Amino acid sequence: MRKIGIVGIGHVGATVAHIIIAQGLADELILVDKNTAKLAADELDFRDAASLLSNHVTVYAGTANDLADADLVISALGHIDLIKPGGDRFTELKANTPEVQQVGNDLKKVGFNGVLIVISNPVDVITGMYQKITGLPTNQVFGTGTYLDTARLKRVLGEALDVDPRSVKGYMLGEHGDSQFAAWSTVQILGQDIQTLVSRYNLDLDKIANDARVGGFTVFNGKKYTNFAIAHAAVSLAQLVLSNARSEAIVSHYDDKFKSYISTPAIIGRGGVVQTFNLPLMSNEETALQQSADAISEKTIDYL
Ligand code: LAC
Repeated sequence: MRKIGIVGIGHVGATVAHIIIAQGLADELILVDKNTAKLAADELDFRDAASLLSNHVTVYAGTANDLADADLVISALGHIDLIKPGGDRFTELKANTPEVQQVGNDLKKVGFNGVLIVISNPVDVITGMYQKITGLPTNQVFGTGTYLDTARLKRVLGEALDVDPRSVKGYMLGEHGDSQFAAWSTVQILGQDIQTLVSRYNLDLDKIANDARVGGFTVFNGKKYTNFAIAHAAVSLAQLVLSNARSEAIVSHYDDKFKSYISTPAIIGRGGVVQTFNLPLMSNEETALQQSADAISEKTIDYL
């Protein structure tokens, strides 16, 4: 029985739920949110949808008590309404903190021992907060991190080269925020290092990296939230966990070197982050990763 809980059924949480139901990834889906009126309506709406699906899924509005034996919980709670155009995801930290403390304590109280995937922003800090509060092993708690930013890098590069973004390999690393950076030494297309394609395609790598970095705000500035891409990012990570894929993904995981959560590649399976490895980086990229870790800790102090 695949049992998933989603905490926070706003734009992102509802889209996560919709994808999970449409793709038949859960046998039981529990929706948790403070807004019980909307929760009841979403539950009913999803149940109506379930009668039109090819797969069976039991969807219900619940509380943390229903998450005790969940295989996976996804935190999508947030206050994106506080963010101003061109702002910073840390703007949500103060408002999200008490809710994260409540949910974290509830999960600990009910004995949840599954994998916790965090979307809530600022995701690197919030993921660390959840891990501390729940006391779950660090591998069982990870964030979507720059998984989405990496998808944006692939989209921008795919458009520049007129290829399917899935043909682009490589990473955005560091903070899911302003200090993230494109690790160009990891970027390959059709088996060729990106640097060998710069002149042929007249690529402006700085602009490409920046378009990826600000991609979230480009969407946000148009509709005051983002939901589709981040929801697909979270669900594809959930799929790696539930299927014990032991597949590589870039997520915000606990990095001993920085003593904080930050995005570098990891192997994802049933236990969450089942393996990490040292990504060979150029010295300037190592410096940028350290600077990103410093930015996360500095902003945490400023905002908390
Ligand atoms: C974004 C949000 C999830 O980048 O931070 O779309």
